[in-house]
Amino acid sequence: MTALVEKLVPDSIKKLIPYQSARRIARDMDKTENTIWLNANELETCCQYGERQDGANSHYHRYPDYLPTDLAVAYREYGAATLGCQSEIMAVRGADEAIDLLVRTFCQPGNDQILVCPPTYGMYEFCADSIGITTAVVPLTESFQLNLPEITKQLPDTSIVFLCSPNNPTGNVLHQQDVVTLLEATKQQALVVVDEAYIEFAPHTSVLHLMAQYPHLVVIRTLSKAFGLAAIRVGFLIADSSVMSYVARLVAPYPIADPSAEIALKALSASGVAQMKQQTTQLIAIRDEFIHAVSQLSIVDKIYPSSTNFVLIRFKGNDNFYQYLLDHGVVARSPAHEESVQGCVRISIGSAESMDTVLRVLQNY
Ligand SMILES: Cc1ncc(COP(=O)(O)O)c(C=O)c1O
Repeated sequence: MTALVEKLVPDSIKKLIPYQSARRIARDMDKTENTIWLNANELETCCQYGERQDGANSHYHRYPDYLPTDLAVAYREYGAATLGCQSEIMAVRGADEAIDLLVRTFCQPGNDQILVCPPTYGMYEFCADSIGITTAVVPLTESFQLNLPEITKQLPDTSIVFLCSPNNPTGNVLHQQDVVTLLEATKQQALVVVDEAYIEFAPHTSVLHLMAQYPHLVVIRTLSKAFGLAAIRVGFLIADSSVMSYVARLVAPYPIADPSAEIALKALSASGVAQMKQQTTQLIAIRDEFIHAVSQLSIVDKIYPSSTNFVLIRFKGNDNFYQYLLDHGVVARSPAHEESVQGCVRISIGSAESMDTVLRVLQNY
């Protein structure tokens, strides 16, 4: 594995000396009670803005942990307890930062390419585009599964294959046997990143257990979806230590703000996880009822099965249903730029009341 990582990492990253943040230095030091911390140009005492909260924010004048280990430990307990010790977990600012870090760590502009399988999440290609890295595009098959023969042709030039399962915007899970076949084919060649942003809606489909056998597999997770914490910007990168040692060179000095870490720790506690699971069960029931009702409508060509908190609907004819919904106060998403899902609308699953409203609007078309 180390050989593959050494092959993929550009020389510029190998030479990079990580920024020595104040907390990184502090962690290596013997901390005594009498130490006076004057190394980070912070204020030495805490400021209270607005109403007094009895010391709730008493440590906010200090920079946060440079890599919040308590968050990584909490996530391992929640979602990755069976992971081997060779795999590491890093808390990052949402799954989007994990994608960006992987592209910047393992691809050199003008030299390397990533591979994506649309229709899928747009950030993989966007991150590559933003720094001049080529993207090879191998569309999913008609049933939104991997086109392995076409992917294989591209592998000799590819550094990272980005997969998304359950996939956005199609809502389906990739066949695990196909992921395994791809992992076999990429062993000496490329990293395979599986974005599991929606995994709590189909937990049994995770590929995490494959990491022990395939250390070039990297998994991305987030608290933005099932945990309902999109605003705090916390996600996780799970990878072999050889991958992580290079990613850690590029990560921002203080990636997670303290208020975000505090909320994330509560969400990952036993009671937080129980609450998330209960919410998820309720949401799945609302989703399945909505799918059943919408599939009865004559305007609907197809509503795709979903393992997520959204559904993809294909309407009959060429009418603009995205605009129709918008005109009636429902903001959905039109993945019109993706050829294979043109004419489709993606709708997130909200409360039972919201989904009843959407259904009524569609019934009145
Ligand atoms: C597949 C997928 N990955 C990642 C993200 C971004 O997640 P985060 O909010 O953790 O950055 C999204 C958000 O829509 C997504 O759909």
